[in-house]
Amino acid sequence: MSTQDLAWWRHAAIYEIYPRSFADGNGDGEGDLRGVIDRLPYVAGLGVDALWIAPWYPSPMADGGYDVTDHRDIDPRFGTLADAEELLDRAHALGLRVLVDLVVNHTSEQHPWFRQALAAAPGSPARARYFFRDGRGPEGGEPPTNWISAFGGSAWTRTTDPDGSPGQWYLHTFAPEQPDLDWSSPRVAEDVDGVLRFWLDRGVDGFRVDAASAMAKPAGLPDADPALQVAWTPREWADHPQWDTDGVHDIFRRWRRVIDDHPGEQVTVAEAVVKDPERLARYVRPDELHTAFNFTFMHASWDATVLRSVVDDTLASLAPSGAPATWALSSHDEVRPVTRLGRTGGITDPVLGRRRARAAALLTFALPGGVYVYQGDELGLAEVEDLPEHALQDPVYRRTAGRARGRDGCRVPLPWSGHHPPYGFTDGPGAPWLPQPATWSDLTVEAEDGDPGSVLNLYREALRLRRGFRDEPGLVWAGDPSDRVLDFRRGDRLRCVVNLGPTPVDLPGPPTLWSEPGSPDGRLPTDTAAWYVG
Ligand code: GLC
Repeated sequence: MSTQDLAWWRHAAIYEIYPRSFADGNGDGEGDLRGVIDRLPYVAGLGVDALWIAPWYPSPMADGGYDVTDHRDIDPRFGTLADAEELLDRAHALGLRVLVDLVVNHTSEQHPWFRQALAAAPGSPARARYFFRDGRGPEGGEPPTNWISAFGGSAWTRTTDPDGSPGQWYLHTFAPEQPDLDWSSPRVAEDVDGVLRFWLDRGVDGFRVDAASAMAKPAGLPDADPALQVAWTPREWADHPQWDTDGVHDIFRRWRRVIDDHPGEQVTVAEAVVKDPERLARYVRPDELHTAFNFTFMHASWDATVLRSVVDDTLASLAPSGAPATWALSSHDEVRPVTRLGRTGGITDPVLGRRRARAAALLTFALPGGVYVYQGDELGLAEVEDLPEHALQDPVYRRTAGRARGRDGCRVPLPWSGHHPPYGFTDGPGAPWLPQPATWSDLTVEAEDGDPGSVLNLYREALRLRRGFRDEPGLVWAGDPSDRVLDFRRGDRLRCVVNLGPTPVDLPGPPTLWSEPGSPDGRLPTDTAAWYVG
């Protein structure tokens, strides 16, 4: 095995922290870095190897922090640069590595570069950092292309000139508050090299690359096929000018050189929602990013045939590059697994969902490669689907005129202790920034800590056992493909059996770990998983 094969990130378990919702250390109702620092022993106690911290940079929060005004600082609501340095030191002392978010497909509209660009004339160097274009049609009143925004509506917004007359348009793949950077501008590329070095010099162990597939736009900004411009469906797009164009790979090669020049073993993980595993494999070629999120797995239905083929396709497509797979059930952008897996025929059954989510966790942790856990999934939290409309903050809600409620339901502040909101999330007078359900008293860290059958203790035990087999390469399916059961081995060190069928199935003997406490010996019930760890 080469040193590269042994690299920590090839099999790491990484815990995603969404800092605004993790823990409030200063009593203002929003999570912050002090809250994270205070709870680092909890994260280390889960048995993960690293954390990924969603954006902590100064931001007007038009898109939950993914609208950055300064890539080299910390938002005052979260703390200071000194707090970030303390967090890195404390995490490292606990054996945890730290990945930060790199959000450079776009900036905030409040970023000094964009303010300068707005104040500057068309064609000026300040505007060349972004995509400013004249409109089409009479008086330039139509957007320059037919491109659409991920959050609904056109991807272009018209500016107003200093004299009050309508001006050029600018491009924003996401919200209008998130103007896209033009990566063909050398000044943009050079500055972001400096951002990478800034955080590497402070000891970060890697970067999660936001919106990786959006970063390069073809010269001339051609229109997309109008038939494709009805809805934001990048999982179906190929040869689309807004998404997954070949130019993105030049950017990653450039970053890889910066990272490889730095001592240590830092990792990158791409957020690249693309058409299929073959397209995804292009992001992790040896001179590009190290790993990529596996959205095909995350979005797969609870179906043995589907999941088996996603696993096989993922591993086969990555084989040529040698990059490890990654597996995750959710993130700060996704419906929580308890809710997603509990949805049948338009109705959500949280009991079914929690049972499947427990089995899905054992499946995920058994697969070869890295795994991600989104904060709160280890408590079995469900999506909060009844947030009052006035509380909703996700731009998706506004941009779709309420047709989509957005992602706030998975970002509700975590319950730590006690029987009523704020469940120990904050000890200040301010309410948590999103209201917590009245029903979470059995789902706090405190409550689950003392319950041997809790989701929390299942995660802890599974992540502990995983250390014994995680560097076993690949997997081998046991038996013929089945439309009911997933059954595979990782060498002699693990056998994982998951029953997705309607009736119990026989097992070879008493397992080391069940996804359900009290499952009867001998047979594996529907929607449960069992591990045999050697
Ligand atoms: C990524 C982030 C998401 C954000 C978007 C725009 O998809 O995960 O939260 O809204 O990029 O930055």
